Amino acid sequence: MCGVVAYTGFKEAYPILMSCLKRVEYRGYDSCGVALLDGGDVQSHKDVGAVDDLRSKLEHVSGATGIGHTRWATVGKPNKENAHPHLDCSGRIALVHNGDIDNFMALKDELIKQGHTFTSETDSEVISHLVERYYAGDLREAVIKAITHLEGSYALAVVAADFPGVVVVRKESPLVLGLGEHENFAASDAPALLEFTRRVVYLEDGDLAVLKPESVEIWRAGTRIELPVHQITWNVSELDRVGYPHFMLKEIHEQPRVIRDTLVGRISLTEPRADLPLAAHKPPARLIFIGCGTSYHAALLGQLFVSQISPMPAHAYVASEFDPLPSSLKDAWVVALTQSGETTDTINAIRRAKAAGAWTIGVTNVKESSITRVSDDMLYLQAGPEVSVAATKTFMAQLVAVYLLSLHLAPPPGQLGELIGELRSMPSKVQRLINSQSSIQALVKKLNAYDHLFLIARGINVPVAYEGALKLKEVAYLHAEGCAAGELKHGPFALLGQNTPVIALAPRDAQYPRMLTAIKEIKTRGSPVMAIAFSDDNDIGRYVDDVLTIPVAHGLFSPWLNTVALQLLTYYMAAARNLPIDKPRHLAKSVTVP
Ligand code: AGP
Repeated sequence: MCGVVAYTGFKEAYPILMSCLKRVEYRGYDSCGVALLDGGDVQSHKDVGAVDDLRSKLEHVSGATGIGHTRWATVGKPNKENAHPHLDCSGRIALVHNGDIDNFMALKDELIKQGHTFTSETDSEVISHLVERYYAGDLREAVIKAITHLEGSYALAVVAADFPGVVVVRKESPLVLGLGEHENFAASDAPALLEFTRRVVYLEDGDLAVLKPESVEIWRAGTRIELPVHQITWNVSELDRVGYPHFMLKEIHEQPRVIRDTLVGRISLTEPRADLPLAAHKPPARLIFIGCGTSYHAALLGQLFVSQISPMPAHAYVASEFDPLPSSLKDAWVVALTQSGETTDTINAIRRAKAAGAWTIGVTNVKESSITRVSDDMLYLQAGPEVSVAATKTFMAQLVAVYLLSLHLAPPPGQLGELIGELRSMPSKVQRLINSQSSIQALVKKLNAYDHLFLIARGINVPVAYEGALKLKEVAYLHAEGCAAGELKHGPFALLGQNTPVIALAPRDAQYPRMLTAIKEIKTRGSPVMAIAFSDDNDIGRYVDDVLTIPVAHGLFSPWLNTVALQLLTYYMAAARNLPIDKPRHLAKSVTVP
């Protein structure tokens, strides 16, 4: 799981490649590198660290054609040798690779026997030696022959010292071409190119392209083809922090707008009705939501929301664990949530769902991402680009989508008007919460004194406890566990005490009295308790040490507000710990490995 970029034109390629690499850095950031064609040679530079680290060591490299890579290590430790680009034995061919080559050990043994010398532990390096084996002046031919040996996934960009352009090819890893005036580009995703062009072409699995400054040729199964040119609609300003210290904070603050945009055109202006432009299909007898990480938490919320408003059976699964029996899902819709649209576990789960007879709906924030090619129908989030590795505004957009879908497919008689009204009011409630952050700061200091904490909830807020714990782990590096409040006494109680605080999600809903019971039991065991409660709850303060308030809302919408409160708490805790908030260690934004 890495980011690849390529440029060929008449300008200096190095600053362009570095800008594009910065934009794909969310895909991995343990090491990075570039290779440029310069006066008949390949100049390659790479190192451990992020793009800015390399830029600070390397003022300039000249050349008007080049490739770049930012890595999230899978095969081989994150070190300089394993960083890309990878060169052949002669140093005249260089390539960057995103994906995994399953049969690389066998290929490596074979190439070593043939006299090739390897300098890294990576699977990717075998490809540069395979290209070397076949290269006789036509790089396209050599790449075509090389990839016939590969089992696995790849997005490749390859240059050779005496070839005036870049050859790119993809299979099961994303790759987009960017079209310019006297220059052309390639990258793992379209936003990476936004600063330089809005005209993009999405390659399909197996497509190969030869990029030169004045031409782009695309080949599929040995035949020249033309593919549609798309215009990117996102603005480059959306990719910048615009004054915020971190993207995470900016993206949390964008949520009122995200909710509004994801609702636009999807709730009727005249009647209480959710209108989704879904392809006509027999309505399901049951709904199954799947996703990974934060997207799985949105799936759980989908399941619980449907169960609260209708008798339609609903389930949620972690995508990697979803393995239905053949023909067992003929009456079901499977709703696959993935903000990036690239998560391999989710995409493979969709394939299994289809094999089991389900109708599949992909829900994603990224148009033309891989999920669009495997799902029967699509629902797009309108969150705009999310740069921080931690999903915040895309989670919120997923909640909007799963609630809308549920209201569309299983409208609750007698309750629909109230729920649609509450949907409409959420942007302003989230805005009010964002505007009233003063009480959060005091809690940040308190909670940052601990190494472990629990988050507890009941009913529809249980997935929010899980999501809050995930955010605290990944962004604030704090060990946190989300737990159904009733479950604490079945084991985790053993860990309670004065060094283990508990955050209780306690909106005044049907679960409230039972939540108070749980809080009292926890206090008896000596744990400090902080509650997140409605702003009109004047009682809760008697039971807990601290209260963080959220605007009053319908109980089924309290998860949205609890989510924002926990996002802000996490952000400020991580900021106080001086952590790399937007790029937490060992993580990447899109996880394209199984
Ligand atoms: C979220 O903060 C995480 N970084 C991660 O759990 C993420 O939600 C997960 O990898 C799924 O990603 P997706 O939505 O792009 O499929």
